[in-house]
Amino acid sequence: MTTTLKLEISSPHRSNFPKDFIWGTATAAYQLEGAALEDGRSASIWDTFSHTPGKVKGGDTGDVACDHYHLLERDLDLMKQFNLAAYRFSVSWSRILPQGRGAVNAKGLEFYDRLVDGLLERNITPWVTLYHWDLPQTLEDAGGWASRDTVAAYLEYTDVLSKHLGDRVKHWITHNEPWCAAFLGNLMGIHAPGNRDLKTALQVSHHLLLSHGLAVPILHQNSVDAQVGITLNLGPTYAFTDSSEDATAARTSDGFMNRWFLDPLYGKGYPQDMLEIYGAASPVIVAGDMEAIAVETDFLGINYYTRANVKHKAGAGLFESEQVHVEGEYTFFDWEVYPQGLTDLLKRVTYDYDPPAIYITENGATYQDEVGEDGEINDTSRLNYFKLHLEACSNSIKAEVPLKGYFAWSLMDNFEWAEGYEKRFGLTYVDFTTLERKMKASGKWYSDFIKPE
Ligand code: FCB
Repeated sequence: MTTTLKLEISSPHRSNFPKDFIWGTATAAYQLEGAALEDGRSASIWDTFSHTPGKVKGGDTGDVACDHYHLLERDLDLMKQFNLAAYRFSVSWSRILPQGRGAVNAKGLEFYDRLVDGLLERNITPWVTLYHWDLPQTLEDAGGWASRDTVAAYLEYTDVLSKHLGDRVKHWITHNEPWCAAFLGNLMGIHAPGNRDLKTALQVSHHLLLSHGLAVPILHQNSVDAQVGITLNLGPTYAFTDSSEDATAARTSDGFMNRWFLDPLYGKGYPQDMLEIYGAASPVIVAGDMEAIAVETDFLGINYYTRANVKHKAGAGLFESEQVHVEGEYTFFDWEVYPQGLTDLLKRVTYDYDPPAIYITENGATYQDEVGEDGEINDTSRLNYFKLHLEACSNSIKAEVPLKGYFAWSLMDNFEWAEGYEKRFGLTYVDFTTLERKMKASGKWYSDFIKPE
């Protein structure tokens, strides 16, 4: 079923973006590489999770995914066809260090050499995310991110990878969406490793942030003149009514989603109101941790998909609030299409935290694509979603937000975590039986829009 967006579409103008604006697409290792146990790669928590019955829709796994590991050359050519200036991808930790730390797997490094060199040959700048949720299972078995030892292991991995790629890779993202890794994985239990415990989730969030802070100087040391940052998934939060109760509910929800990460990264420590709510579940913090987390970075990566509408509800969970499904346009994920939220968010982050540069490191939408009789995929809703959000970006630039680039999620349909292959976010359609790729209408539009002038 194809849905059509009813929101008024105003097309963005390329001339409203600076000449040196970075245009890209993003992916993540487990979502598209496949070759799960090949050439020395060992299992990650996502291999374990997806192979556990009932965890992922349809029993889907990333065993094969888009088979990007084997179809690398083809995909590099596709990226060139897209006119990408930059490509954001993540590295599979357990391909590089199958035991999580210690012995290095040369074959793993070779794959990323081929990827990075292939990008550079095509004049596409590689943007590397070190951690996009796929912790080596061996480290999970030893306590996972709830254990401080995993921070040390992550620094070892960071050192190995940046020593190896640091001469060619100059853009590094330490973590992708620590909120999801911490809370979807350890509080809600819907992502790997599937825990449901607030104290664990909060300790994980602290260790993720700490590992970020300690990795930044290592990356600068191994990769001269590199730009280093972290990517957060931020959701602007709106109170459903003007009541003071709803305002408090919205503020708490903002504390949970946004401030819990932004405040410590920008030197404000964990938000006091959240520490009070979390009480005894608050993380154990060692002297020096908060200073390490607040290390200076070169940019903030923001992933934006939707907003939250919140209202007070007595007795509803820890936050005494609930999300309201307001009238509007929704994607197949049931996420509201709300481009104004992106502009509001970018202005607020600039005003409250003043990062030197911001990149949208993910933005996109899932709809139920149909392959037409002519073989074309006319994904008008997704195309309009991109237009609306690029317009929101250009409005932010006008408002003096230091927005320097935009990465569409995603280069191609892929394994959408707990949703399996049902939720397609690609600018390129992937037939998961034949593994054939075909640019959708949205992809054609995007590649045309970003074409160097
Ligand atoms: C983000 C993830 C990314 C993808 C999109 C749809 O939360 O970073 O891997 O799944 O959502």
